[in-house]
Amino acid sequence: MKIIIINGPNLNLLGKRENDIYGDVSFNDFFESLRKKYANQEISYFQSNIEGELIDKLQEVGYNYDGIILNAAAYTHTSVGIADAVKAISTPVVEVHISNTFSREDFRHKSYISPNAKGVIVGFGLRGYELALQSFLK
Ligand code: DQA
Repeated sequence: MKIIIINGPNLNLLGKRENDIYGDVSFNDFFESLRKKYANQEISYFQSNIEGELIDKLQEVGYNYDGIILNAAAYTHTSVGIADAVKAISTPVVEVHISNTFSREDFRHKSYISPNAKGVIVGFGLRGYELALQSFLK
């Protein structure tokens, strides 16, 4: 299957950002081990701190991939543009958050993406990306 992980702002800092919340593993290290474990799947990764670039990527892959795993990070709570892109495309999107956003500040409880996501995985650390991947595999 052709699956892409799309990460939003500040997730390039995983491993050195608020380790108590997000852990101490860099996303690149995690991604490499995921790719090895699921070597028979076509898994790619894109990260941007820029809202429009995330929308461009969703539009680019959203009609020809089998699944999108999206952690829009802070834009989850603010971006109507990303929410509209998720609604527009035909590839199913699983929304992932590393931390349990519901146990954090009130502004993190609102997601503009969830209503149009196939499912949501929240609070299981980086393992959430693997759970999302498994949800796409037959
Ligand atoms: C996050 C949660 C968001 O509220 C936050 O802005 C992030 C990361 C998570 O994966 O837990 O940057 O999406």
